[in-house]
Amino acid sequence: MPVSIEVNGERHVLDVPRARRLLAVLREDLALTGAKHGCGEGACGACAVLLDGRAVVSCLLPVGAAEGRSVTTIEGLAREGRSLLEAFVAEDALQCGFCTPGQVVSATALLASVPRPTRDEIRVAMAGNLCRCGAYPKIERAILRASGQEGRA
Ligand code: FES
Ligand code: FES
Repeated sequence: MPVSIEVNGERHVLDVPRARRLLAVLREDLALTGAKHGCGEGACGACAVLLDGRAVVSCLLPVGAAEGRSVTTIEGLAREGRSLLEAFVAEDALQCGFCTPGQVVSATALLASVPRPTRDEIRVAMAGNLCRCGAYPKIERAILRASGQEGRA
């Protein structure tokens, strides 16, 4: 039975196994390669996307679990609003950039629920997003900047 999901505002009816991972569907079936395949085990956050506004790791999520729900990837976020992306650039909050889509997705979910997070709240919310390059202080500053707390950055 086909799976119907909305991705970045567009409805897709997909003839794929329901157990197929959402990350594979996004990258291989829908050519949305922004979400990255890092660990593949739910431990790094590189594959994070928003599911009905909540950040989830798409490498573990069966696409059937997203049936009838709304998925937003980094491509959708790039279309919707640029302030967070611009803050990442302004703070030089990346080196290789592999983790960046997941970082931006998780930061988006954080700012939607906590518009002016403290440093501690940022650290807790972003704990599932690993950065092998160690850009954590700059990522934190980018989130503070995007939340209008530049002076604390
Ligand atoms: S690739 Fe999904 S959490 Fe690492
Ligand atoms: S910028 Fe390289 S892994 Fe984060």
